[in-house]
Amino acid sequence: MPYQHRTGLSPDCRKSLLIQESRPPPLTKPEKCKPNKEEKNPELQHSTQGEVVCVTGASGSIGSWVVKLLLARGYTVHGTVRNLKDEKETKHLEALEGAGSRLRLFQIDLLDYDSLAAAINGCAGVFHLASPCSVDQVHDPQKELLDPAIKGTLNVLTAAKGLGVKRVVVTSSISSMWPCPNWPADKIRTEDCWTDIEYCKQNELWYPISKTLAEKAAWEFSKEKGLDVVVVNPGTVMGPNIPPNLNASMVMLLRLLQGCTETYQDFFIGSVHFKDVALAHILVYENTSVTGRHMCVEALSHYGDFVAKVAELYPEYNIPSLPRDTQPGLLRAKNGGKKLMDLGLEFIPMEQIIRDAVESLKSKGFIS
Ligand SMILES: NC(=O)c1ccc[n+]([C@@H]2O[C@H](COP(=O)([O-])OP(=O)(O)OC[C@H]3O[C@@H](n4cnc5c(N)ncnc54)[C@H](OP(=O)(O)O)[C@@H]3O)[C@@H](O)[C@H]2O)c1
Repeated sequence: MPYQHRTGLSPDCRKSLLIQESRPPPLTKPEKCKPNKEEKNPELQHSTQGEVVCVTGASGSIGSWVVKLLLARGYTVHGTVRNLKDEKETKHLEALEGAGSRLRLFQIDLLDYDSLAAAINGCAGVFHLASPCSVDQVHDPQKELLDPAIKGTLNVLTAAKGLGVKRVVVTSSISSMWPCPNWPADKIRTEDCWTDIEYCKQNELWYPISKTLAEKAAWEFSKEKGLDVVVVNPGTVMGPNIPPNLNASMVMLLRLLQGCTETYQDFFIGSVHFKDVALAHILVYENTSVTGRHMCVEALSHYGDFVAKVAELYPEYNIPSLPRDTQPGLLRAKNGGKKLMDLGLEFIPMEQIIRDAVESLKSKGFIS
């Protein structure tokens, strides 16, 4: 998730970073994990009652959804936050159904191995989501993005291996697949596509570099040490935001509704709903036969398509008119997430993603 344009964001677009709501809305009963599809999938019928798993970055927007669905499926969850004393990191997690008896929170830093090992100890599986995402200019890319992403991933995997974890799901990104200007122009992007690091260095695209190098480090570790690793590569994730803070992709939508004209040329290749990303994590964890990377987008699309749909659904906002083709070289395709679709995931369409995300921004008071 992408959300730092290589030319930097315009001042208007920088407004509203790290906006906090004053009052978290009441959480409704957690939805079930699409039970119809799971029933069709024999490997999802194994009992999860009592199985303990760790979710790093539990406090974040995607992490909260992963915790919510894991609790709904009967798991016991060790969730990591950066500051246990900060209610903005903990309260929304403690309010989730099942949290009272099956959620334990741990304070960690990605560069502090011992803190991670304490959270992972006793877990059968790990979902590694914690990683910094920045929409603003990064002053010190090594310290702010690369070290926590790469060393953090290696710390998590080392602890997992040492503590006998069975499987680790690593949350990578489409930012480890895009930008990749040398991909054949007539070929739809697949999991074979890797971000071009040299292009990113030339254009100071530090977030894609951090996600690409972290994912590559994970694959290398898995091969060398024999740890079972599987990867989810989400596109731009939006929908009902559980924590009080917005993540970078929800900030991106908020800025669009405020008139921001960024095209996210090197970052966007499709949107996806929070719930589907959380489901994808659980699907690849529970289906022990699946391997490799999993592109997680409702479709391969241009940011211009997304913006046009927002404008159509919400004409009352000041949505800029952008060209349709904002991602040069990206072929549109309905089945970018085919590997996950083959596992039974039916992606929520872009229109519903937008509606859920905009209504979430409204209900939390970010827009009126
Ligand atoms: N949002 C997207 O569209 C998108 C798309 C593809 C992939 N992803 C990936 O999905 C994951 C979650 O992203 P998100 O959108 O949910 O963002 P988020 O809401 O900002 O969550 C990031 C999480 O990582 C934690 N974290 C960051 N740096 C850390 C550090 N040094 N030590 C410990 N914890 C740290 C954060 O803790 P604090 O709350 O304390 O900061 C937070 O819990 C990330 O790996 C991201 O790269 C996101």
